[in-house]
Amino acid sequence: MYRTHTCGELRLSDKGNTVTLAGWVQTVRKLGAAITFVDIRDRYGITQLLLGEDLTSQLEQNPLGREFVLQATGTVTERSSKNANMPTGDIELTVTSFKILNKSAVPPFTIQDDTDGGDDLRMKYRFLDLRRNAVKKNLELRYAVNRAARNYLHQQQFMDIETPFLIKSTPEGARDFVVPSRMNPGQFYALPQSPQTFKQLLMVSGYDRYYQIVKCFRDEDLRADRQPEFTQIDCEMAFVEQEDILNMFEGMIKSIFKEVKGIDYNEAVPRMTWEDAMWNYGNDKPDIRFDMKLLNLKKPASVYTEKADQAALINGADFKVFDEAETVIAIAVPGCSEYTRKQTDELTEWVKRPQIGMKGLVFIKVNTDGTYKSSVDKFYAEDRLKSIADAAGAKAGDLVLILAGAEERTRKAISDLRMEMAGRLGYRKDNEFKLLWVLDFPLFEYDEEGNRWVARHHPFTSPKPTQIETMINNNPVIENAAEYLKHPYATIKANAYDMVLNGNEIGGGSIRIYQRELQEKMFAALGMDKEEQLHKFGFLLGAFEYGAPPHGGIAFGFDRLCAILGGSESIRDFIAFPKNNAGRDVMLDAPATIDEKQFDELQIKLNLKS
Ligand code: AMO
Repeated sequence: MYRTHTCGELRLSDKGNTVTLAGWVQTVRKLGAAITFVDIRDRYGITQLLLGEDLTSQLEQNPLGREFVLQATGTVTERSSKNANMPTGDIELTVTSFKILNKSAVPPFTIQDDTDGGDDLRMKYRFLDLRRNAVKKNLELRYAVNRAARNYLHQQQFMDIETPFLIKSTPEGARDFVVPSRMNPGQFYALPQSPQTFKQLLMVSGYDRYYQIVKCFRDEDLRADRQPEFTQIDCEMAFVEQEDILNMFEGMIKSIFKEVKGIDYNEAVPRMTWEDAMWNYGNDKPDIRFDMKLLNLKKPASVYTEKADQAALINGADFKVFDEAETVIAIAVPGCSEYTRKQTDELTEWVKRPQIGMKGLVFIKVNTDGTYKSSVDKFYAEDRLKSIADAAGAKAGDLVLILAGAEERTRKAISDLRMEMAGRLGYRKDNEFKLLWVLDFPLFEYDEEGNRWVARHHPFTSPKPTQIETMINNNPVIENAAEYLKHPYATIKANAYDMVLNGNEIGGGSIRIYQRELQEKMFAALGMDKEEQLHKFGFLLGAFEYGAPPHGGIAFGFDRLCAILGGSESIRDFIAFPKNNAGRDVMLDAPATIDEKQFDELQIKLNLKS
């Protein structure tokens, strides 16, 4: 037997017992010739070993190094100087014999909470990084979320069904990763971007509550919250309406909060339409831990046909920056009216950075003495500044920030600025969680490159029932690219929903189309002719002829959910073996070339274009 206890287990109540521990050497401290203290670590904790004179002298020939694998037998004794910061800090093991089970090379960085290893080094030696407490805690949290999700779904009679990884390439949205087939030379499988069509087929098969915690593969540009292979909690239900899905999965997330974080999230999750989210926050995944709503002085006309902006507040002042801008949006930042010149200059530089891309920043200080001071005093008298500030919801002591420019960019910039200012004000707290449903997404998105419509979510998403006619009765062709917004398709909303947590999209789904005819019309709207439809999705269209039930579902970004619950921006910290931002596994050094023999077997000849 290698061990009787773990390194995190022994307490004063074990005093006097003879035990054996096994683990990795964390530190060795020699006190003269008579005593050596060794801290030994495993997954469960750290225990102090006390080696007396004989054993200390044995170490002279065979010195212990960091990360050596050690087995030690001895008696549990009470420590003379206790360490209240360690669960095992009341005791130590007075060792009678020990054995080095394996040696270790000197690790390239120290295995402790505040390591001296940089990101690249830690990724190259990820197996060592994983020994660190901080990383271990993240993986433990991930496992806890996994268990909580499974428990809930199992209780709700969902069935975990695996679906294949080698499938057919039907790129939509992201690019597919492809795998050559040796047995079918010249042909390729694709790795699934999600099990979307399979879970719909399972509904046709009668498995009316399906789930899977499953890998998905997308060849897309990576960010802190995106990996080329990531995990979804993927779910589908038959005989449901949107309301059923929202309730079921609100329940799942709340149950995860409870089991993993001990949080009783009792209030109902608020719901917001996509239009309102864009209007009030400039963003389809607003962080509602704080208010700070936007004021659309000159609205992004392409998004809102119905909503009225407040252009009268800025018009007629002969201020070219506003007059010539497509869009002008303001935000009131609480308590910042006393910003100095240096601070407003720094903010202006912030919005001018290439990532934000604005030309400048206009501000209005709502001073506590009732006066108004602005960078555009020349154009706007105090009463006009007051009207703008009032409309933005600014109170005495607040600072109003205004951005003007091209529609998309300005909207994105003000939404980034909102997050930035909230961060500076300490409104984005790691331990506060605010969920939100965003509903009624547009069904289509305009693809400028192809001058065509693409599915905003995916092509299996159902239009709002009242707008099906609009889709069916209008030709999808966009005659005049500049006026694509006037096309009836621009107004069609989908039965699609996203779940947002603290400003992150943690899940998304929709009610599906389940009739062949409507699905064909949808494919046609996306510019697919009959032949292409059959080639790509013949299996699904065929299945819809054999009694497909009404159905819908959702998938949660499992890695993202874990990262947010763990208070981190980066999902990499919550994945045992992640890829870097260039999509590389630096430990394996993958991707890599393959042998000539492998190419031969695949009957492939490499002919790189550049
Ligand atoms: P969607 O594409 O919205 O929906 O994905 C669902 C959720 O997965 C997460 N996610 C990612 N996480 C890490 N890295 C990525 N590259 C990445 N891409 C997406 C997000 C997202 O909300 N089949 C549909 C779901 C459905 O309709 O039921 C789908 O995949 O948190």
